[in-house]
Amino acid sequence: MANIILLGPPGAGKGTQAKRLVDERAMVQLSTGDMLREAKTSGTEMGRRVAEVMDKGQLVTDEIVIGLIEEKLTGAQGGGFIFDGFPRTLPQADALAALLARKGQALDAVIEMQVDDDALVARITGRYTCGNCGEVYHDQTRPSKVAGTCDACGSHDLRRRADDNELALKTRLMEYYKKTSPLIGYYYAKGELSTVNGLAEMDAVAAEIAKVLDKT
Ligand code: AP5
Repeated sequence: MANIILLGPPGAGKGTQAKRLVDERAMVQLSTGDMLREAKTSGTEMGRRVAEVMDKGQLVTDEIVIGLIEEKLTGAQGGGFIFDGFPRTLPQADALAALLARKGQALDAVIEMQVDDDALVARITGRYTCGNCGEVYHDQTRPSKVAGTCDACGSHDLRRRADDNELALKTRLMEYYKKTSPLIGYYYAKGELSTVNGLAEMDAVAAEIAKVLDKT
């Protein structure tokens, strides 16, 4: 069992690799992005505020996301937790350390997925996902086998995200470099950081991640 963080800019491939780890190692994916997208559709005042912030590409408050993670950490852990898109700020990183300590659990690895910025635009603007099971596709690099149908669950609910456009992506990247990238130094200093080449083919990225996991 291993608890890991997948750290990287929007489009680095965190969700894609997290889904593989769920299938291959029975790990539990905790994606704050997915949780917030669910909150957006809840029809509550909180959901409305979250939608406004997310659609512009800005970060939601630490208080909200820490609360969401805290709720989920009480559930099943299977092969360990994959923190996907969390933490994204130093206060979130400190809160995660405190939460895990309270539960008598450790953080086993922080895997930084390095991708250059030019590749991110093409990845984000070509992405679509299954609204039913969350499978991630791409117009060029990973289209569904039958157009309009999810390979994994057969659903026809294939969607594009409201924040997957060039304007919101600029803000998302800026937020990443200002608020999230300091976590690379933070986890390096703690001796927890490993780096993989997120620009490689999906299978090659998965193999590099597996190597890190096998050492934990
Ligand atoms: P979130 O949903 O976490 O989005 P993100 O971090 O911007 O990351 P993405 O989901 O866009 O990319 P990914 O790295 O998962 O890439 P993917 O695997 O899909 O967050 C959305 C928003 O929610 C934030 O902007 C913020 O507002 C809010 N939020 C979330 N967490 C928060 C927090 N902790 N604090 C505050 N606010 C928070 O891949 C992308 C595409 O590339 C896909 O089409 C895929 O098929 C393709 N691809 C993947 N890997 C490869 C490869 N190796 N080669 C070629 N193509 C590939």
